[in-house]
Amino acid sequence: MTQKMPIAVLISGRGSNMRALIEACERPDFPARIVLALSNKPDAAGLEVARAAGLQTAAIDHKAFGKDREAHERKVDAAIRASGAQLVCLAGYMRVLTPYLVNAWDGRMLNIHPSLLPAFPGLHTHEAAIAAGATEHGCTVHLVTAGVDEGPILGQARVPVLKTDTPDALAARVLEQEHALYPSVLQDYINRQ
Ligand code: GRF
Repeated sequence: MTQKMPIAVLISGRGSNMRALIEACERPDFPARIVLALSNKPDAAGLEVARAAGLQTAAIDHKAFGKDREAHERKVDAAIRASGAQLVCLAGYMRVLTPYLVNAWDGRMLNIHPSLLPAFPGLHTHEAAIAAGATEHGCTVHLVTAGVDEGPILGQARVPVLKTDTPDALAARVLEQEHALYPSVLQDYINRQ
């Protein structure tokens, strides 16, 4: 195949979706390679996962920027560009973005969200799905646009909601699907470019 597309993965926490992307990128036929794993939380467990995989990592603590979200994003954007990444995958990156970063990566930033969007945007999606009596739940990979969890949908995976489900049990079933969905949608997206 032609050259792999350099991508940056942005995380805030444990980084299990990033790990799924790392494993996919190790396949010779996968069209991406990770050139940067970046966290807004210096103590994110996922950074250790990335280091162990030999990836370049960066931590840019949003707390140092107070209420100036855009100033934080300027640093994040600079780090992404310095890495040579041409596409950004948000993978549990728990920041609401300003138009600055959204516009900078228009059409080149993907996110994974743990619900079947447009149902249940925002946080606590598994609790919300159970509380709403949903019989089906899942995850969505979408392009990032100005509205939170609102961009064009690139792919979804579904799971049944069981009568016995707790939010944690449902989250675990969805997470397993996330780990398959994100690499698969990323691959399709890059191959369509
Ligand atoms: C995932 O459920 C993802 O969909 C959501 O945040 C969680 C991150 O988990 N945006 P992980 O850090 O990838 O393990």
